[in-house]
Amino acid sequence: MIHRRQFLQTSAALISAAGLDACGPPLDPARADLSLDIQPAHFNVMAGGPTQNMVSLAANAPPPVLRARQGMPFVANVTNRLTDYTTMHWHGVRLPNEMDGVPYLTQFPLRQDESFRYEFTPPDAGTYWYHPHCMTMELMALGLTGALIVEEKEDPGFDSDIVLNLRDFRLGDDGQFTDLYTARGAARGGTLGTVMTANWTQDPTYDAPTGGLVRLRVLATDTARIYKLFLPGAKGKIIAMDGHPVAVPLPWPTADDPLILSPGQRVDFAIEMPSDEGQEISLMTDAPGAARRLARLRSIGGRENRSIADLNPLAPNQLCEPELAGAEVVEFVFGWSPSGDLPNNGLCGTLGYTFWSINRTPWPGDASGVGPLATLKQGGSYILRLRNESPNAHPIHLHGLAFKPIRSNKRELAANWTDTALLLKGETLDVALVADNPGDWAFHCHVIEHQKTGLAGYIRVA
Ligand code: C2O
Ligand code: CU
Ligand code: CU
Repeated sequence: MIHRRQFLQTSAALISAAGLDACGPPLDPARADLSLDIQPAHFNVMAGGPTQNMVSLAANAPPPVLRARQGMPFVANVTNRLTDYTTMHWHGVRLPNEMDGVPYLTQFPLRQDESFRYEFTPPDAGTYWYHPHCMTMELMALGLTGALIVEEKEDPGFDSDIVLNLRDFRLGDDGQFTDLYTARGAARGGTLGTVMTANWTQDPTYDAPTGGLVRLRVLATDTARIYKLFLPGAKGKIIAMDGHPVAVPLPWPTADDPLILSPGQRVDFAIEMPSDEGQEISLMTDAPGAARRLARLRSIGGRENRSIADLNPLAPNQLCEPELAGAEVVEFVFGWSPSGDLPNNGLCGTLGYTFWSINRTPWPGDASGVGPLATLKQGGSYILRLRNESPNAHPIHLHGLAFKPIRSNKRELAANWTDTALLLKGETLDVALVADNPGDWAFHCHVIEHQKTGLAGYIRVA
């Protein structure tokens, strides 16, 4: 028997799961699906007039923050309104393989005006994101990256929840796009943008209650930039990395010891707002030359005087612990491409050159039909040994499964769950996982120019 109070809670949950206004009339849950159009957009990224030819999921606005609830169905009908082919991928979410949005591997690319119904029940709460996986370089560079928040079953008790989608755009002085990628960048650390933004805006300010508690969710959705974050003078704590609550505590970042957030990664900060109205906290990134401010939080309104100790700690997501003793080691080497063959591109684009490889084999193109890099037995524990023989760093991302870094030849590691781990120059990094989600899971560098010029493949769990 369902009590009225429970019923009200459930319908409120469904409405918020669909990202709809909680003040509207109760909706039939079957009709609460999201309808999302991938569409052209223009927006004032720089002063002096809108940037044209952007790509979003909203009319002339940045891609919206989508909200789902842990353990509740999420449904998004995504329609492609571009002339380019594309797909949508839900980065970090452990979902059924056929919902993963990887062209040719899990679905066919969507042509203009074609729709795909993405439907999954996120098992893990936290900060995730979405981006296309076909024409990936162009569409991400033009703007199509956004946050997907999976809300905890229990409210941790913040006064405010602020999402910062960090990324660059490559714009000329006229505010219009220049070349989106370069051969020079693709062969090195990736091509950086010219304008740093948070939520498509340069140095925006967000208000939060004076003395209140803010959950600041920061997403590195840039195609190349490795952020080095710190918040001078702020009092706070890192509560989650890459979606998952931190089990091994991470130090509060400083200018001398910033938090490295590489493309694809996310961090959730719990922050105590300053106790005087009008005071600000800056989110900074270290960059060649000088540190740069990315965004500001400003204290506004009456005094709350809350402390981080007031928060309910985040419940850990339910993940299977790998058994390290008997785990099979599977080796991967990331490096240059042994041959300069052109990738074959299907409908999902090629940059026109090949520079990189996994296990000395460059990804031959999305439509190539090649086999997996490795096949893992469903339910088995594995150690993936990731070895970098190139002089560049690579944020290595695995779809569909969470893993834990356990060992490095270069540094001390915090063994927190993740889906994207930065592999340093000269590093051999062991990561452990349980292969508990069946399917073909893309495995690639999240510097998109590396991914699209060879540093990609997939791992089969069967
Ligand atoms: Cu966020 Cu395969 O990517
Ligand atoms: Cu992903
Ligand atoms: Cu890379």
